[in-house]
Amino acid sequence: MTKKFHIHTFGCQMNVHDSEKMAGIFSGKGLEETGGTDNADVIVLNTCSIREKAEQKFYSELGRLKKAKQENPNLKIAVAGCIAQQQGNTIFKRFPYVDFILGPDNIDSLESWIGDRKQSAEHRTQTTALKYNPGYHTKTLPIKREGRVRAWVSIMYGCDNFCAYCVVPYTRGRERSRPRADIYNEFELLAEQGFKEITLLGQNVNSYGKNLAEDSDFPGLLEKIHKIDGIQRIRFVTSHPRDLSGKLINAMRDLPKVCEHLHLPVQSGSDKILHLMNRGYTFEDYKKKMDSLRNNINNIAITTDIIVGFPGESDKDFELTLNALLEIEYDGIFAFKYSKRPGTKALNLPDHIDEAVKSERLSKVLQLQEAITFQKNKALIGKTMEILVEGASANDPEKLTGRTKTNKIVNFCGDEKDIGDLVKVEILEARQHSLYGETT
Ligand code: 5AD
Ligand code: SF4
Repeated sequence: MTKKFHIHTFGCQMNVHDSEKMAGIFSGKGLEETGGTDNADVIVLNTCSIREKAEQKFYSELGRLKKAKQENPNLKIAVAGCIAQQQGNTIFKRFPYVDFILGPDNIDSLESWIGDRKQSAEHRTQTTALKYNPGYHTKTLPIKREGRVRAWVSIMYGCDNFCAYCVVPYTRGRERSRPRADIYNEFELLAEQGFKEITLLGQNVNSYGKNLAEDSDFPGLLEKIHKIDGIQRIRFVTSHPRDLSGKLINAMRDLPKVCEHLHLPVQSGSDKILHLMNRGYTFEDYKKKMDSLRNNINNIAITTDIIVGFPGESDKDFELTLNALLEIEYDGIFAFKYSKRPGTKALNLPDHIDEAVKSERLSKVLQLQEAITFQKNKALIGKTMEILVEGASANDPEKLTGRTKTNKIVNFCGDEKDIGDLVKVEILEARQHSLYGETT
């Protein structure tokens, strides 16, 4: 009987895409994907350690798998991702029923692990793959993609920024860019397969190319892949405000497939906090880049990440973050309460903020932004916008859903044959998180 695998993904787009690579490896080995843990022979938990909450979710899920292993001793359980990298084989101590622990840089190790036929229940060996994997960024792994219209392509791994709050440089290691030819080939393949929109993935895409011998920077990469026919839209995440160059802004302006949307995490509006966070820019620097973006790229949508309650954040510092939201008028934000992360510099800073104060600040930020986002969405009523049709709407399967180039979700009544096409939709209604329209 064909063996079945199930992957439970926690965390960011990087992790979701890593899970597509794991699924590619398993499928290549003849395993079949199954929707849940119940009838799986192999379960992978692909973990996230960015905030404590993400970690807790993983630990309770892993706790639940104890019973599954008791019922089926042949079940194989792997823990992958950022917690795996940080906790390593200490996970075996607390959860002896785990078989394999692998870090984000060692996804390719699943291939030999899954092919290891010696691993019967009686002769079970627990193994890890956590070491620095020098050639990982030059490997092309098989990928089982989730959609048929939009796809992700990794362009770099790791991060060298060491923001004081962030665990990523410790879990995903040093920054390494994939060779441009490998990215180009992957793009060509995706175009052949009929994908229309590609999102380039990396922790800091603006510093793409730093480690490469070839003369290749991020704007140069965009220019090269822009030439590939069939791909209609190109997006990228995530950008660091310090490394966002004038050259990139010009490339965004001049390359029509590059979407008019930028996710540019500001984190705080206070220079004191930005300095403590080791972000490498002041709010004034950030605003100058924002002005340049808005002056060069018509109707560009900007989104951001905010952390409230970073150690030392006074009421005044927090006010500056609220002012920043008012001044910049983002299209949308992701806001988080500061969460202590093992091994990071911020742990040792003085003046950690009370949990209740953090919660209060988070609600204020979200409330203010909701009004701004809604206002921005309302301003689009009456406009005709180009939508890339993705499929049925999750909330209303009678309707189709898609996105504008500015990354706004639009639901509309349309024809299923339009899935994968660009259609023009007139915006008729604005909601908090989406728009409603009709095809023109
Ligand atoms: N606590 C809260 N938020 C965090 N982020 C990263 N680390 C932490 C942390 N320790 C947020 C940042 C980042 C986003 C991906 O997650 O805002 O941009
Ligand atoms: Fe993604 Fe960071 Fe979470 Fe790792 S810790 S999964 S890189 S968000």
